[in-house]
Amino acid sequence: MFKLPDIPISIFSKMSHLAKEHGAINLSQGFPDFGVDPILIALVEEVSKGGVHQYSPMAGEPKLLEETAKLVYESYGRTLNPKKEILITAGATQGVFTCIQALIEPGDEVLILDPSYDCYVMPITLSQGIPVRIPLNETFLPDWDLIKDAVNDKTKLIITNNPHNPSGRIWSKADMQELSNLLETNNNLYHLSDEVYEHITFDARHESANLYEALRAKTIIVSSFGKSFHITGWKVGYIVAPENLMNELKKVHQYLVFTVNSLSQHVLSEYLKKQNVKQLGAFYKQKRDLFRTGMKNSKFELLPCEGTYFQLASYAKHTQASDVDFCHKLVEEFKLAAIPVSVFSARKESRKVIRFCFAKENETLTKATELLCQI
Ligand SMILES: Cc1ncc(COP(=O)(O)O)c(C=O)c1O
Repeated sequence: MFKLPDIPISIFSKMSHLAKEHGAINLSQGFPDFGVDPILIALVEEVSKGGVHQYSPMAGEPKLLEETAKLVYESYGRTLNPKKEILITAGATQGVFTCIQALIEPGDEVLILDPSYDCYVMPITLSQGIPVRIPLNETFLPDWDLIKDAVNDKTKLIITNNPHNPSGRIWSKADMQELSNLLETNNNLYHLSDEVYEHITFDARHESANLYEALRAKTIIVSSFGKSFHITGWKVGYIVAPENLMNELKKVHQYLVFTVNSLSQHVLSEYLKKQNVKQLGAFYKQKRDLFRTGMKNSKFELLPCEGTYFQLASYAKHTQASDVDFCHKLVEEFKLAAIPVSVFSARKESRKVIRFCFAKENETLTKATELLCQI
């Protein structure tokens, strides 16, 4: 008997594989197709000549912890103790796993807001916790009545993701206030805040949990340098948490990875001094606008996109087929790969909406929109 008998291959791997097989433009998986900053490449060369090839300290390279603390301070005005409140992880995925493994005991309930990214449920199942999946509302924002109704004595954790994958929506101050109230009124409840797209918002600022004093004591924030610096393959991210929670996370981290790839940590600690994440929103806004403008003459209806590098589109005017079937048709017949949104929800109900990733070269985006306008 094995622990996870029924896990299919992820939709992201499946669609990227189909894109290759059919020679399709790949707007499915969330990674950039453009080059990495030459400054970063030069740093890899320069830094790798030094003594940076042995194990880093367990929680992370001290220089990187300090630069991360500076980044959080500059972004949100939150002062962190780099030694006690930051942990460098092998991507946000390991951050999420570590947090759930440290907190969730058998029978604990964990609230997940659907549609949700796919790395939350499995670690809960492995910890013998119970994932409680609550739908976001029609506009992909939280339904606080549903959330409050779902909280009971067994609820240990609520996982949020803002800016949100797959919808590209961002939360308002009022949402953050509701969340603060929920944590204040439920002593046993903690919060895991997945903020991997924290620096990719367009028209309004990102409401990070870092900004809310009332959230900080019970919140574990995960983020991803992969998303912020176009280096998803490096798999380096970080966790921010108060010291008492961080001590528990470190116990898991120590035996899960012990420490993260030393070269990436040394390079990133230098790179953080040289770059400005504040440019990231404008960089992706241009791509979002290029994609949206290119889609004006298509039959797709575009939904609001306030952050991340994902654009949702309704294909209801094309067909009443399920989103999974439509995505198969798109990649097989029209040579364009996208992601069906139903796979992000427990109920798998199809809202006739699919997700396009616009973290791509302008040329790729133009080709993609020309193709989509012909359908
Ligand atoms: C919402 C969300 N959380 C976490 C991750 C994982 O990030 P990482 O590659 O740093 O593990 C992703 C990656 O696509 C994501 O979209």
